[in-house]
Amino acid sequence: MKSKKVIKRKEDHLDLAKKAQLFADLADGRFDYEPLFSAHPSLQQCKTDLSVNFLGKQLMAPLWISSMTGGGKKSGQINGRLAEVASEFGLGMGLGSCRQLLEKNCAKKVWNDFDFRPIIGAKLPFFANLGIAQIEKMLKEGQTERIYELIDKLSADGLIIHINPLQEWLQPEGDRLEKSPLETLQIFLKGAPFPVIVKEVGQGFGPASLQALIQLPLAAIEFAAFGGTNFSLLESLRRRHQGPISTLNPLCLVGHSASEMVENTGKLVVKLKELALCRNFIVSGGISNYLDGYFFTSKLEQAVGHPVLYGQAAAFLEMATVSYKQLKVYVAKQVQGLMMARNFLKIKSSAGEVL
Ligand SMILES: Cc1cc2nc3c(=O)[nH]c(=O)nc-3n(C[C@H](O)[C@H](O)[C@H](O)COP(=O)(O)O)c2cc1C
Repeated sequence: MKSKKVIKRKEDHLDLAKKAQLFADLADGRFDYEPLFSAHPSLQQCKTDLSVNFLGKQLMAPLWISSMTGGGKKSGQINGRLAEVASEFGLGMGLGSCRQLLEKNCAKKVWNDFDFRPIIGAKLPFFANLGIAQIEKMLKEGQTERIYELIDKLSADGLIIHINPLQEWLQPEGDRLEKSPLETLQIFLKGAPFPVIVKEVGQGFGPASLQALIQLPLAAIEFAAFGGTNFSLLESLRRRHQGPISTLNPLCLVGHSASEMVENTGKLVVKLKELALCRNFIVSGGISNYLDGYFFTSKLEQAVGHPVLYGQAAAFLEMATVSYKQLKVYVAKQVQGLMMARNFLKIKSSAGEVL
């Protein structure tokens, strides 16, 4: 006798077949699909096979939660959920800007929004975050000790510095830089007693900036490339309350995509040889799913010779805002999707043939 479930499934097939049509040119041309050589991955297999070492710590997957929030009404809850999911799936995490924590007499309530080492645990990377403008200011005022104290108090592994001159320029209350970010970084790195990661905030870095960064003694570079969340645009949108903005500021539309930055970084690491002091990378900015992550990290790994991570911000935020359960489902899909990609997809040698 046929079960009701089977009959329903067979009816679905007949009903949906017409809707399930795709055009041949929609196939993702970056990959060869090789269905013959692997079994389906179990969650346990994902946890061992995707495991990577990053800055001396073992991640269960090459996935990074990019810097976001802190100090807003919902920040504590969102950061708490992000730290919890990082702990459960063995991921690394960057905090959003910790600027408020540098203020004298910063309220305990604000600290609570950032103080998530006890949740993420000691074994995973957990980084504080400040803008280059704060670094410049602290250096000028001879106050860098306060940054060191901040890292210590958060039990962070180190500091992520975001370099964001366009965002600051377009932000209504934005800071103005008196020195070049490179000069500030060079001075700061001479004294910093912890690992430093540098990132943008959604517009990425051009080849000359990348070349200069790769030659600094940085722990890693996070791309924060153009093509996803764009903070210049976000700050321009905030100006709306001051009057209508009829045209988009053209500065919002400059930048470098993750694809372009993977290409440039690969070439630079090969060209610079031993002058490339920084060899760890987090590909981020507009990484919409695990297939992008798999593609870009695999390409860059060919050039640098060791694991590369990929990072996401807005995608995690969307889920973390809804509930922990939603976030957990999302991360499980990312991890399993990545493993499926590893098992069944090969990068075509002609796909972005640059390295
Ligand atoms: C709500 C929000 C807040 C952010 N705040 C920070 C921040 O404080 N510091 C920082 O370095 N980047 C910040 N970013 C930028 C992200 O780290 C990331 O570089 C950028 O969103 C691009 O990644 P995406 O396209 O995956 O969102 C923020 C992003 C979002 C969405």
